[in-house]
Amino acid sequence: MQLFSVPRRGYVSLQTSLVLLVLCGSGVFAGNGTKSCKLSIENQSERKVLDRLEPLANKNFTADITDDKDSYTYVFQLCGDAGGVPKAGVIQVNKKDKKKTVIGFYNTTQAIGGSDWVMLIYGGGEKYDSHCNGEQRKAMIMISCSKDVDSKLEVILEDRERGNNCFYLFEMDSSAVCPPVQSQLSAGSIILIIGFCLLAVYLIGGFLYQRLIVGAKGMEQFPNYAFWVEVGNLTADGCDFVCRSKNREEPSAYRGREVTTNTVEEEPEERDDHLLPM
Ligand SMILES: *[C@@H]1O[C@H](CO)[C@@H](O)[C@H](O)[C@H]1NC(C)=O
Ligand SMILES: *[C@@H]1O[C@H](CO)[C@@H](O)[C@H](O)[C@H]1NC(C)=O
Ligand SMILES: *[C@@H]1O[C@H](CO)[C@@H](O)[C@H](O)[C@H]1NC(C)=O
Ligand SMILES: *[C@@H]1O[C@H](CO)[C@@H](O)[C@H](O)[C@H]1NC(C)=O
Repeated sequence: MQLFSVPRRGYVSLQTSLVLLVLCGSGVFAGNGTKSCKLSIENQSERKVLDRLEPLANKNFTADITDDKDSYTYVFQLCGDAGGVPKAGVIQVNKKDKKKTVIGFYNTTQAIGGSDWVMLIYGGGEKYDSHCNGEQRKAMIMISCSKDVDSKLEVILEDRERGNNCFYLFEMDSSAVCPPVQSQLSAGSIILIIGFCLLAVYLIGGFLYQRLIVGAKGMEQFPNYAFWVEVGNLTADGCDFVCRSKNREEPSAYRGREVTTNTVEEEPEERDDHLLPM
């Protein structure tokens, strides 16, 4: 039995894959996420660490801090232009004169991770004026696992009172870096979900095909209606064959004689007697 008529096959498979894409794929193919981060040295294991941060991608995080004379706002965006500055991962905004200083670029990323934390390092920032031998600024963001508190950025320290390797240290909590738990879907449930998706695609696609292309009405709109009716009948026959204790021909021949004398109302009870107790 063919699922769809031959000449339309190409069209139908295109239609089916489109529906499949919309139904099952919408969650999978959305956004570039952490892919826009460029690792300073492309490395499989670092990329994997970065992938764990996917839920935080393209979100804005800010932190305010006031030192003796100035107050600043730090803006952090994971693999996105922080504060609208191209390629900037972390920027510092002086609240008084709105001057933006790039602390680190996300095209110079380093990612280190443990079981329940990730350290993200953005390098290549604007050079210090007088501190740190005028080297480039660097931002380090420590992201720790927290099941309930939602991500909030905090400034820990700005270490610039030394010759080199100065850095800005930030900290935040997120459930994104927590070790995976039982919430992960098992293989069985994934297969089940795919099964349901395919069934839905079959029903919806087939329904649309029958309705729009074939122009069917009523029950005929179900895909392969005749086929499924046949399947139903065969199943019923199979059940009948397996479950019925007495041969079907015998009672009907017997009933043939009875019907002439007995009333028809007795028939259902009589038939029930031959069924096995279930
Ligand atoms: C994804 O990346 C492509 C090219 O790398 C870019 O053109 C597109 O705008 C990006 N989309 C988003 C949502 O960032
Ligand atoms: C990636 O970096 C880790 C640690 O720095 C190292 O052990 C590993 O060999 C590197 N992998 C590749 C493919 O360079
Ligand atoms: C992040 O904040 C900047 C300005 O502070 C804004 O222009 C941008 O749209 C925000 N992005 C997101 C994803 O919220
Ligand atoms: C990162 O982007 C900035 C700003 O576009 C640029 O000045 C810098 O050279 C880039 N760095 C790398 C390693 O591509």
